Amino acid sequence: MSDAPETTEITPEAVNSAVDAALEAIAAAGDTATLKAARSAHSAEGSPLAKLNARLRDVPNDKKAEFGKLVGQARGRVNQAFAAREEELAAAETVARLEAERVDITALAARARVGARHPISLLQEQIADIFVGMGWEIAEGPELEHEWFNFDALNFDVDHPARQMQDTFFVDPVERHLVMRTHTSPVQVRSMLERDLPLYVLCPGRVYRTDEFDATHLPVFTQFEGIVVDKGITMAHLKGTLDHAAKVLFGAEAKTRFRANFFPFTEPSAELDLWHPTFKGGARWIEWGGCGMINPNVLRAAGIDPEEYSGFAFGMGIERTLMFRSDVQDMRDMAEGDVRFSEQFGMVV
Ligand code: PHE
Repeated sequence: MSDAPETTEITPEAVNSAVDAALEAIAAAGDTATLKAARSAHSAEGSPLAKLNARLRDVPNDKKAEFGKLVGQARGRVNQAFAAREEELAAAETVARLEAERVDITALAARARVGARHPISLLQEQIADIFVGMGWEIAEGPELEHEWFNFDALNFDVDHPARQMQDTFFVDPVERHLVMRTHTSPVQVRSMLERDLPLYVLCPGRVYRTDEFDATHLPVFTQFEGIVVDKGITMAHLKGTLDHAAKVLFGAEAKTRFRANFFPFTEPSAELDLWHPTFKGGARWIEWGGCGMINPNVLRAAGIDPEEYSGFAFGMGIERTLMFRSDVQDMRDMAEGDVRFSEQFGMVV
């Protein structure tokens, strides 16, 4: 738009048409941004009204008052219309923004279901923590195991009845001598072969037996195995270690006792009982697992001199432990994967 002298004559028609155009633009503006553009087109410098106003100085003196009033009233009307519309639009915009930002504090949050961790995993971690707290290492071994690690190195004779004691899943072809490990004890031998002495190792893991699937048996379950090999290790160390674990898991009054038993890989061997002070049906002794001093033949199979080193081992079932610790009636609940079972344990067992 140029500032060149305008030829527009001040006439009531010219003023009215400028006013009409301005009012029309004001009415048509649907938001404050459009209104701002209308203001610069119809009222600001360079607009028809401003130009008419500028022409006032060329009006003959006797007409000045008349035309001055005409243009002045016109500008007043237009400015008023702008102000009114501006207020209207600002109010409408505030309402729209508040509406858009509305938060329904009574609505349910749309959360994804969190699910739950399995109590066997939780208990397994809690048991591992007890031993890590004593400076032990955590080890894992393969679930598909060589017969040599699962039986031979553990001093099971080829036709020793103990081999049948644990009902084994043999894997085809049998000539390869692979089994699903029947216990975590093969990790005793693996640890002794793979790690430096002294050895303080806990191995939690899954094991397999051709057992029925019933309230107290699962064909796939979880054990934790403890293995210690050091100089001067005695059964007193084994007892002290197990008593400590029992107290952490079952309370200060918990303790353990040994009953003579036989395992080919420990000598002497013991059945391990737990005094469970808070058992649901009243405090009592419960059979918990097996343990003993590592048989010298096993140490030898792993290349360790039994004259120099001794060690102990123990093994317990985690499903069984969870059963009498948390009063689970049916072991199958631990295998069926219903989240409602797991949810009862929360995130801490
Ligand atoms: N492996 C044995 C079992 O599954 C338990 C055990 C472990 C016994 C370590 C003695 C020493 O029955």
